[in-house]
Amino acid sequence: MEGVTAAPARHLVEFSQVEFADRLTEALQIYVMAMGYPASTARHRRTLWLDHTGRPGWRAVGWLDEHGTLLGIAYGYTGGPGQWWFEEVRRGLLTTTGAPSLWMHDYFELTELHVLPQAQGGGLGEGLLRALLAGTPRSRVLLSTPEYGPNPPGRAWRLYRRAGFRDVLRDHRFTGDARPFAVLGRELPLPPPHHSG
Ligand SMILES: CC(C)(COP(=O)(O)OP(=O)(O)OC[C@H]1O[C@@H](n2cnc3c(N)ncnc32)[C@H](O)[C@@H]1OP(=O)(O)O)[C@@H](O)C(=O)NCCC(=O)NCCS
Repeated sequence: MEGVTAAPARHLVEFSQVEFADRLTEALQIYVMAMGYPASTARHRRTLWLDHTGRPGWRAVGWLDEHGTLLGIAYGYTGGPGQWWFEEVRRGLLTTTGAPSLWMHDYFELTELHVLPQAQGGGLGEGLLRALLAGTPRSRVLLSTPEYGPNPPGRAWRLYRRAGFRDVLRDHRFTGDARPFAVLGRELPLPPPHHSG
């Protein structure tokens, strides 16, 4: 029928820096809801997330629903000396292994990956992970995620293990955060997804 266009169903998009800035409030809302953080955390993160858009190799992807509402967000950039995260992880590696690691060279830092709680469990997170990493020329990817403690691993851990991430550093304490974190990594590119059943 002429003049009638169906709204696109749920779809993945890559964001420019400007588009990301326009979506920042929405993206931060997903972040605090997914992580269960207080709403005030979003305010504190605004400047940092915007600042990150200027880093080399920065990329961001998101899922939009048929109304254009953001359901999930992921971004990262090329890691390197002088960045807070790089220096924190290097310190951890030096303390535990006594030597810097090959992991810290030519890597993409997966900084944030979050899906709205009501949209989790359907493969959106894996879609974000794959879309984000498919576009980086770096030869490996690193990320940090909270340790799961005595409880069985949650969604994030299952996703990272399924995607082949290995332990780089465990029980690491970042400055200013009392919680233990794991640093995980894997070589790029990712192999195609394994479909079972
Ligand atoms: C971690 C997170 C981003 C993962 O996103 P997600 O969409 O929930 O997770 P996945 O893409 O892995 O999909 C989840 C499940 O759907 C299944 N799935 C995968 N593809 C699917 C598809 N096409 N259709 C239906 N189900 C599918 C997977 O097998 C997976 O099963 P499991 O969780 O029982 O192991 C999300 O859960 C989240 O935001 N968590 C809170 C915040 C967080 O921890 N972020 C990471 C911080 S480092």
